[in-house]
Amino acid sequence: LPKSGPKLRPLEPKDREPIHALLHANKPVFSEEEVRTAMECFEQGIVPVPNDPDPYHFLVAEESGRVVGFTCYGTTPLTQGTWDLYWIAVHPERHGARVGRVLMEKVEADVASRGGRLIVVETSGRDEYTKTRLFYEKLKYERIAVIKDFYKQGDDKVLYAKYLAPTEPPPAPHA
Ligand SMILES: CC(C)(COP(=O)(O)OP(=O)(O)OC[C@H]1O[C@@H](n2cnc3c(N)ncnc32)[C@H](O)[C@@H]1OP(=O)(O)O)[C@@H](O)C(=O)NCCC(=O)NCCS
Repeated sequence: LPKSGPKLRPLEPKDREPIHALLHANKPVFSEEEVRTAMECFEQGIVPVPNDPDPYHFLVAEESGRVVGFTCYGTTPLTQGTWDLYWIAVHPERHGARVGRVLMEKVEADVASRGGRLIVVETSGRDEYTKTRLFYEKLKYERIAVIKDFYKQGDDKVLYAKYLAPTEPPPAPHA
């Protein structure tokens, strides 16, 4: 196992197949429809709209040249400094190996460096997502709201949030 953890890099067109495969491998956590939606984000990620004020940001995690995880995030429109985590997925063969943690730590650093102060994550209350919720809780995301029966009857939306520590010193008093 690589001691140094996965290598993180930007998205590349050649990632289409491995990302599709790792989303697929995470069924039934991801439905067919979710896989399709995530792939639509991928397509926008590799061909960004020129001057898009809210582009998708991607990070890909690689181990020995193999794509083992990715994440997609972006600013939340009409907010100041709030970001949404849209997708995170790790290949099931590599779950629990800290790939997800490394990805999230880099997302947080990147968001903070771009002036972001709050990251919001939406997930499901379904049993298949128990591990996912434990993952966010371990990474100090706070469960801030539950919308009952949001996705469908018996499938709640669970909202997690993390306020990032300011990266710059606070303004001097009387400034
Ligand atoms: C959720 C997911 C991204 C986590 O990635 P991961 O690489 O498996 O998680 P990590 O190994 O980085 O775990 C980080 C911490 O979360 C906790 N955690 C992760 N999986 C856990 C599990 N199955 N049970 C309990 N805690 C767990 C661990 O305590 C771990 O702590 P540590 O770093 O101190 O060991 C991954 O499991 C996944 O792709 N799941 C399916 C897709 C999904 O649910 N995506 C999110 C959609 S909202």
